[in-house]
Amino acid sequence: MPHDQYNLTEIPLGRLRRRRSAKWTTFPDDVLPAFVAEMDFPLARPVKDALVEAVELDDTGYANPAASHLADSFAGFAARRFGWEVDPGQVTATSDVVGGLRALLDLVTGPLEGVVVTPPVYFPFFSIVPEVGAELIEVPVAPDGKLDLEGIAARFQAGARAMILCSPHNPTGAVPSRSELEQLAEMAAEADAWILADEIHAPLTLPGVTHTPFLDVSDAARECGICVTSASKTFNIAGLGCAVIVTASQRAARIVSRLPAGATHCGHFGVIASIAAFERGEDWLDQVVARLDANRHLLKDLLDEYLPDTVYRPPQAGYLAWIDAGELGLGIDPSALILEKAGVAVSGGPRFGSGGSGHFRLNIGTSPELIESAVRSIAGIA
Ligand SMILES: Cc1ncc(COP(=O)(O)O)c(C=O)c1O
Repeated sequence: MPHDQYNLTEIPLGRLRRRRSAKWTTFPDDVLPAFVAEMDFPLARPVKDALVEAVELDDTGYANPAASHLADSFAGFAARRFGWEVDPGQVTATSDVVGGLRALLDLVTGPLEGVVVTPPVYFPFFSIVPEVGAELIEVPVAPDGKLDLEGIAARFQAGARAMILCSPHNPTGAVPSRSELEQLAEMAAEADAWILADEIHAPLTLPGVTHTPFLDVSDAARECGICVTSASKTFNIAGLGCAVIVTASQRAARIVSRLPAGATHCGHFGVIASIAAFERGEDWLDQVVARLDANRHLLKDLLDEYLPDTVYRPPQAGYLAWIDAGELGLGIDPSALILEKAGVAVSGGPRFGSGGSGHFRLNIGTSPELIESAVRSIAGIA
């Protein structure tokens, strides 16, 4: 069967501006949005077909993930993409990764118990920890995104109950190595702490590195780890409301079995689209990964040419570029002037916690033309 080819390089701006998602409706039309993690690429054909078929069938009722192929299709995808053997009986649907993490944190922590996060990091983590009554403990990553294992060990020894592992890491794009994850698992198991592994960006790991699923590294990891992930970031279906919580031990499965009913609701279209993505989306995914690989290098060339005073390490995974603009004189949060003067909406570094000052995050999940347009506009004010 011939593979679908997707045009990932020419994406008409007029068509993008007709989208009604957050990326395209938060700012007026004279602003180029490059902030929230949505991609501009066309959907994978199997995902689109599955959604169109559901609409044609007027199939818009409640989701029934347990009666669907969601768990099997995720397990098949995990085996093919990561060589990770997942037991479909230990896959539970939830509506989204952040909500799943929050509900799990609520179960594994008591009042004011410590939860380690690794800034600069995906900012909703800073909200969900205090929301469940736990205490946020920041153990910053190195500038290249490497985990500070000694710092984390010290926090576990001092009583921290859990850690949110962001693997691959947003915003640095770093992919922890198997050996780092093995050490992390040992440290956590020894201290009886939980590792909640957010692996939402994993299928977008780019050439040159390998993503290792946390639950695949050791028995210790399976005992202390719970993975929360989804098709939503990879296949650009975040608005449809479906993610999965994965365990690989009875101990972890017992925690998941105690989730409140609300935490295991999800969107019917999310389930339909995720199954299509996991089962039939890999041709599209291969093309997107190749495009993102080219985009991260294109951005390097553009920054070298137009903004040589910035510091940028191309991400090892995903489509979010973390840029140190401290030398540009745009202040602690460069996103404000970049929005006001360059008309580009980027994510401001300080939102990601310590290490974010002077930085901004640029979304490169788009066409080369729009990446170049963003960089040239920012260069115009720097
Ligand atoms: C690391 C990370 N986790 C979670 C999310 C959001 O996932 P969800 O929409 O399923 O809560 C994002 C979105 O960008 C992310 O980067």
